[in-house]
Amino acid sequence: MIVNGAPIRSCLMLAVQVDGTVVETVEGLGNAGALSPLQQAFATNHGLQCGFCTPGMLMTLEAYLRATPAPSEQDIRIAISGNICRCTGYEGIVQAALDTVSAKASRT
Ligand code: FES
Repeated sequence: MIVNGAPIRSCLMLAVQVDGTVVETVEGLGNAGALSPLQQAFATNHGLQCGFCTPGMLMTLEAYLRATPAPSEQDIRIAISGNICRCTGYEGIVQAALDTVSAKASRT
């Protein structure tokens, strides 16, 4: 999840610790009618298999891409280095992030 703009491991934070903070979860990225650009890029690039890691990957990348508008592929790999995908779907995940960056750049 993202707390006050920073990616946080929800399993390491007590509910009382987020009292008074801005908390964003994967459920808030898109809506029922439309995925967020990053979520759509994950779907397009097969960035998920079992989906176990997907919420963490999405929220880590969402926070990272907000703060880093033009990362390299290596930067993205470093940004997600704290997240493990046991399905080894890293290629699709990294490509999804790169596509999101490219799409953002073409809109500006
Ligand atoms: S998609 Fe299965 S753990 Fe990442």
